[in-house]
Order: sequence, then C-alpha cells, then structure tokens
Amino acid sequence: MLTPRQEPLLTESQIRERIDQLAEKIVADLGTDKPFVLAGLLRGCFMFTADLVRALSIRGATLKELDFMVASSYGSGTESSRKIDIQRDLQADISGQRVLLVDDIIDTGHTLKLTRDMLLTRGPEYVKTVTLLDKPERREIDMEADYSCFSIPNLFVIGFGLDYDQKYRELPYITVMEEV
Ligand code: IMP
Ligand code: MG
Repeated sequence: MLTPRQEPLLTESQIRERIDQLAEKIVADLGTDKPFVLAGLLRGCFMFTADLVRALSIRGATLKELDFMVASSYGSGTESSRKIDIQRDLQADISGQRVLLVDDIIDTGHTLKLTRDMLLTRGPEYVKTVTLLDKPERREIDMEADYSCFSIPNLFVIGFGLDYDQKYRELPYITVMEEV
C-alpha cells in the first residue's frame, strides 16, 4: 500500500522561503508597472497560487485578474499525438495582457506546454509559466517552466495542493508517497 512518508521532502518553512525568493525574481524580471493576469491550473495550483499572489503583492506587483482553468492532457506519449482537454476555460480576456500561468508541477511537460500554447493563440503580451515543483527526469518534450521553486527527483509527491487519488492536497508540506 502507498502511504505518505513521515518526514517531509520539503517543509513548510522551506516552501515559504523559496516562494518569497521566486516572487522576488519574478518582480525583478517582469517589473510592477503593469498588472498581471494570473491563470492557475486547478486543482493542484490552489495552495501555491494563494502564497504566490501574496508574495508578489508584498513586492509591489498587482493583478488585473485572478482566474483559473481546469485542463488535462490526453493521448499517448509523443508530442504530436497529445491533446489538451479544457474542462473549464479562463473567463479573463488575456489579449494584450501579461499572463502568469501557474501549475503545481511540471512533470512530462505536456500539460503546461499545451496550455501555454493555447493561451498564446489569444494574443497576450506574453505567457510566463510558473510551477512549484519540477521533475526534470520525467520530461517527454522540450519544455521548461520559466520559473520554478524546486527541482525534485523522480518520486511521486503529495501535499501543498498535490494529490494522490484526490487525497492529501491539504498538507502544508510536500512528502513522498511510498510503499509500506
Ligand atoms: P505533466 O506530466 O507535466 O503534463 O503533468 C500533469 C499533471 O500530473 C500535473 O499537473 C500534476 O497534477 C500531475 N502530477 C505529476 N507528478 C505528480 C506528483 O508527483 N504528484 C502529484 N501529481 C503529479
Ligand atoms: Mg495538476
């Protein structure tokens, strides 16, 4: 049976500190002269997004709109055969806007790439991708997040928004699912 490991992989304070650093970098790179549209990918993004928007706000960034989408990639492995299924689209008009596309993790890379490419067809000023976690060993396509808090090994992790069968999203830290 798979259960959450007792010792966190990333503690609450490590996560908090790193989100602050990332917000600092985003504000330094992108400026605070124009508000962002933040587009979060539900459901995994919810906790990271809540912390990220506050960390950005403290540093002078403002949001034009906070919006969410529900999307998943489907189809077999290769780049060309993967498609994106949008179960809930953005309500925000992102034409001409600076968009931060936020997800919990970049794993194979399909979800973030397909979602970003779809948003790019709507004429935004830009779309920057932001993730809490990155599992580079699992990548199947040429895709990197513009901003990512932690690079982790190829392990299945839960907590801080990430689930195993819809469970454990509420945990305030990240831990590994392991066989007992
Ligand atoms: P992709 O493989 O990069 O398209 O990521 C698809 C989705 O898989 C992510 O948005 C997560 O919801 C989920 N996912 C990938 N790795 C993990 C994990 O270690 N724990 C929980 N969810 C994961
Ligand atoms: Mg997800």
